[in-house]
Amino acid sequence: MAKLKIGVFGAGRGMSAVHQIFDHPEAELVAVCDKYKPLLDNCRKQAEAHGLYNIKYYERFDDFFEHDMDAVICANYAHEHAKFGIRLLRSGRHIMTECLTMANMAEAVELIEAVEESGKVYSYAENYCYTPVRWEMRNLYRSGVLGKLMYAEGEYLHDCSSIWPQITYGERNHWRNIMPSTFYCTHSIGPILYMTGLRPVQVSAFETPNMPFMRKLGTSSGTLGMEIVTLENGAILKSLHFNIKSYRHSNYQINGDLGGAHDLGSGEIGVYLEKPDQNCRGERKVYKPDPIIAGTENSGHGGGDYFTTHYFIGSILGDEVAKERTIDVYQAVDMCMPGTLGYRSIVNGNQPIKLPNLRNKEERDAWRHDTFCTFPESAGDMYVSNNVQEKIDIPDEVFDEVRRRWTVGEPG
Ligand SMILES: NC(=O)c1ccc[n+]([C@@H]2O[C@H](COP(=O)([O-])OP(=O)(O)OC[C@H]3O[C@@H](n4cnc5c(N)ncnc54)[C@H](O)[C@@H]3O)[C@@H](O)[C@H]2O)c1
Repeated sequence: MAKLKIGVFGAGRGMSAVHQIFDHPEAELVAVCDKYKPLLDNCRKQAEAHGLYNIKYYERFDDFFEHDMDAVICANYAHEHAKFGIRLLRSGRHIMTECLTMANMAEAVELIEAVEESGKVYSYAENYCYTPVRWEMRNLYRSGVLGKLMYAEGEYLHDCSSIWPQITYGERNHWRNIMPSTFYCTHSIGPILYMTGLRPVQVSAFETPNMPFMRKLGTSSGTLGMEIVTLENGAILKSLHFNIKSYRHSNYQINGDLGGAHDLGSGEIGVYLEKPDQNCRGERKVYKPDPIIAGTENSGHGGGDYFTTHYFIGSILGDEVAKERTIDVYQAVDMCMPGTLGYRSIVNGNQPIKLPNLRNKEERDAWRHDTFCTFPESAGDMYVSNNVQEKIDIPDEVFDEVRRRWTVGEPG
């Protein structure tokens, strides 16, 4: 059988998928696109070291788009996945997008409808769902031993300040500099929704002021974003993310009315289980769960990276397990919407906002033209600044210095 022809758009983070496809028995990498030529050159070098000489390399998306491909992995800018993804779906390609799903609610509606109309696979690369510990939390929750979910925490406590020059290159309008504090909520919210299968129904969001250490690197947004999300069964989820000074890198916990499971951050899970009517007399244990597939535990991000591309390809090929485990467009929108509408909550003084269920066609029209966001090209006349508490003008010299650090490989 002919192999599935895959293209990768964006050769920074996209290289994780590229490496996986190099060795894939049922898929081949046919084209890579990035407007930054040194990344394309690097990709070519690595492909040739693998004995792969037939891949085509494109600097322009429009040329890449014309290449004969069955599927595309979009690892381009985080706020432009829907824009390019919708074009690809309408041209008959399956797509997987990196994080995040959309820049605003109008794009969420348009993306969902493009997936439905095309009948193609959409898969969301939320890799934090698939580490051995978070997979075990999912299994425990779904087995029923934790009871009904009451409370959950998802905390992605990644302080990116030292790598800011390497991930923004000193570009004033890089998405990481113009996003609002709540935008990158996927790694904190996504795993909890994936474990429990519950839908978010309301968000109130909060942010810290902009911190000087991030302002010096070129961003004026609130530094730490937090969403308090109500889930469809009434449970509460606290989501916290990004540039915090913290001993821990992440924290995930789910607490039901019969017990709790905690990601201890060490590759181990802590579990507390009670039987009904045995209040506070439960069993406690700590153990290291096995990965979903043996040998994948050293793939990036705690062993989660392998599964996004693995299940995307499997879903296209009709594998039922892959189809069940991949993250579809409705779940993807659910994972991102608390951040998109969370920022509106902040702008409105932390007001609670009801989250629609965009699986229902009748709920879509209210959001179809809602382009409210901090990304000027996507927002049009609904543009809002990424700091409504304080007006901060960052001088050009800051970006010159960040660019210099990027060029010479100095940390932020
Ligand atoms: N899941 C994870 O753990 C994880 C980790 C890192 C990054 N990401 C995601 O991966 C994506 C890429 O992030 P990144 O870290 O590589 O940084 P990035 O967003 O700066 O890189 C995007 C790359 O795409 C290229 N690109 C963008 N638009 C283009 C266009 N129109 N034509 C040609 N090339 C274009 C850029 O040159 C750049 O190399 C983002 O969505 C990010 O959120 C996810």
